[in-house]
Amino acid sequence: MTTRRIVLTRSAAVIGAASSGLLLPQIVRAQSDKVRVGFMLPYTGTFAQLGVAIENGFRMALNEQGGKLGGREVEYFKVDDESNPAKGIENATRLVQRDKVDVLVGTVHSGVQMGIHKVARDSGVLNLIPNAGVHIATRAQCAPNVFRTSFTNSQPTLALGKAMVANGHKKAVWITWNYAAGDEAFEGFEQSYTAAGGTIVKKLGLPFPNVEFQALLTEIASLKPDAVACFFAGGGAAKFMSDYAAAGLNKSIQLYGSGFLTEGVLDAAGDAANGVLTTMHYGDSLNTPRDKQFRLDYAKAFKLQPDVYAVQGYDTGLLLIKGANAVKGDLNNKKALYAAMEGAVIDSPRGKWTMSKAHNPIQDMYMRKVEKRENKVIGVAQKAVADSAAGCRMG
Ligand code: PHB
Repeated sequence: MTTRRIVLTRSAAVIGAASSGLLLPQIVRAQSDKVRVGFMLPYTGTFAQLGVAIENGFRMALNEQGGKLGGREVEYFKVDDESNPAKGIENATRLVQRDKVDVLVGTVHSGVQMGIHKVARDSGVLNLIPNAGVHIATRAQCAPNVFRTSFTNSQPTLALGKAMVANGHKKAVWITWNYAAGDEAFEGFEQSYTAAGGTIVKKLGLPFPNVEFQALLTEIASLKPDAVACFFAGGGAAKFMSDYAAAGLNKSIQLYGSGFLTEGVLDAAGDAANGVLTTMHYGDSLNTPRDKQFRLDYAKAFKLQPDVYAVQGYDTGLLLIKGANAVKGDLNNKKALYAAMEGAVIDSPRGKWTMSKAHNPIQDMYMRKVEKRENKVIGVAQKAVADSAAGCRMG
């Protein structure tokens, strides 16, 4: 029998007001027999497959523990966030207020993440970010109850610029969707590429999630850079690589990207993706015993090849398991729960990683090349890449 109580304590309300500037009480939930986990992920639109991979990975981690968290059964709740920032607050509020989740796992899109972030800060509910790289969540607005298991948007591209210059590609065009993830991926790229002596000839963009690339590809052809670097992901990334090849640009101008460009889309992009070079905290041929086992188990369970999103979802599960085990399932013991998660070393398929003080992974970035429908790891672009965490003061 499950009875749920919501206990609003005075001290919790004071913490809530202090952290958010709003007079919203923090919610302290009584421990019921099941842990309530809410997925707020995209299940439709250009990022639909990313949401599915994250959920698969998360469930797989928990299933390896008999489906339990700190000895307690788990009940799942789901909301399709459609990668729509306008509905971010409303969707996150639904999981927190209506479904009374103990943990909100979400999301993919940086703009939607900002809605979740507001709700997480105001309510105090634990939020695990399995993808969205928006800087502010682990910089100026970092929070004790918000942990990211993925990356910040500039982490992959911080490792990209130097490698491009080392390959002799010194004049580049940058192209992306104009929203937080694209803008922040550019920030990392600009920093590393110009520091290594590269010149950014032009910065091109289009609104998310548009895929009308023709005019921009024509412009790239006339600019004749040494290379193109970009941030795209999901369905839009497959379309970008297909159009790039159809325009013949893959023959003359090396395409680089933040590794999301080639994640989960290699079957859809086909030969158009051959030879694309990207930096990412995962690859398809790491060949470690840990990763081999993960890939085998994932393929068996879901009849799908895993990608970086599946790994991030899996690691989100691993992190929560560490925390929940440390407090024997009592997720109300927030101090001990967060301390265990902060100190966790995650034995991930991507390689071991640790949590920064701002709650973001410190991790190696691999250089990968697409070959035969695989992100083949051809080296380590940069070891132990940490985000700047600028402005983070854990309150
Ligand atoms: C983001 O919006 O933060 C985002 C989306 C998809 C990715 C990576 C980052 O693959």
